[in-house]
Amino acid sequence: MAIRLGDIAPDFEADTTMGLLSFHDWKRGSWAILFSHPKDFTPVCTTELGRAAALKSEFDRRNTKLIGLSVDSVESHERWAADIADVTGFQVNFPMIGDPDRRISVLYDMIHPNVSDTFTVRSVFVVGPDNRVKLTFTYPASTGRSFDEILRILDALQLTADYSVATPVDWRQGDEVVIAATVSDEDAQKKFPKGFVVKKPYFRVTPQPNLPD
Ligand code: BEZ
Repeated sequence: MAIRLGDIAPDFEADTTMGLLSFHDWKRGSWAILFSHPKDFTPVCTTELGRAAALKSEFDRRNTKLIGLSVDSVESHERWAADIADVTGFQVNFPMIGDPDRRISVLYDMIHPNVSDTFTVRSVFVVGPDNRVKLTFTYPASTGRSFDEILRILDALQLTADYSVATPVDWRQGDEVVIAATVSDEDAQKKFPKGFVVKKPYFRVTPQPNLPD
């Protein structure tokens, strides 16, 4: 069964580079990003894991834990981590799941057989503090993901979770946001003290609410 937005992210126990863990227990109270890479000791994956490690403080600031996965073993991840540090300058500072029996890869539909039976694609699952899946995306092995984009979507998801707003096309930190249709004009006046502009009856914008004036 495909995992859809709004589903509870399936719980699992896993052997990782930071020991055995239970996913829901490990992430309790936090956001989490579970992401797969195709294979250890490969170039694009090396750049991605180094970049993810470099951004640890940015993920911490967003109360977000990272956890990586491939069908390689924990022992392989540990050997590869030395190369990642050597090439990128960053030591992997989050757990990497070893999934040689593909139990978790299959649970999360990370193996796409028309691409490969032997490795996971580049899946990303953003999971909220309520353990529900907030966003997923999938890239092929040949295309490295943008971890700047992952931070951007986390910011957008967290704004939506904390305020009744959505983020428009190409939204970036500091841009105006869209007031949800469920909020009446009267409530919007109370909720958004910086004011709002009515572009169309269905389209109201307000300055980003979590920034100082
Ligand atoms: C890479 O990370 O470079 C890679 C991994 C698997 C297949 C192709 C490329």
